[in-house]
Amino acid sequence: MRSAEPPVDSTVTFTPIGRVESEFAGYAPSEEMRERPARIVLRPELAPGLMGLEAGQYILVLFHLHRATEYQLQLHPGHNPERPLRGVFATRSQYRPNGIGATVAQIRSVVDNMLDVTGLDAQDGSPVLDIKPYSAGFDHPPELSITN
Ligand SMILES: C[S@@+](CC[C@H](N)C(=O)[O-])C[C@H]1O[C@@H](n2cnc3c(N)ncnc32)[C@H](O)[C@@H]1O
Repeated sequence: MRSAEPPVDSTVTFTPIGRVESEFAGYAPSEEMRERPARIVLRPELAPGLMGLEAGQYILVLFHLHRATEYQLQLHPGHNPERPLRGVFATRSQYRPNGIGATVAQIRSVVDNMLDVTGLDAQDGSPVLDIKPYSAGFDHPPELSITN
């Protein structure tokens, strides 16, 4: 027997596991942000959860796009009117009904509750929701070739 499911529009609440420290406190293009170092500072009590993460490893960082307070259901990717209009779920836009960012970053160092990374396009102060090791097995469909 299945237990009763909550309604699909019920609220889900997460407590951030930490925050991003970045030199970018407002909008900047992802490409520019990803070239610069950033730091993820976890809540100190969660530091034991970093055991096993090492410099050089790639991680998937899930974060709240907290400064994107409105969403657009259809948009031109990259704010480029020459690109065809698309539904938000067919884009990586920050203007989403649930402002969740997902970026693969590379660890430069792990010290106590801090991860120094490159490749992260999260603005300063972004609440971090989760960190997972990037796994080619889970994250890269074998039949998908890399085009960009
Ligand atoms: C297009 S989103 C993509 C984010 C992530 N790579 C993804 O695919 O989910 C990247 C843009 O979001 C913006 N951004 C990053 N952190 C943000 C935040 N906390 N609030 C609002 N915008 C943010 C950045 O300035 C960047 O231009």
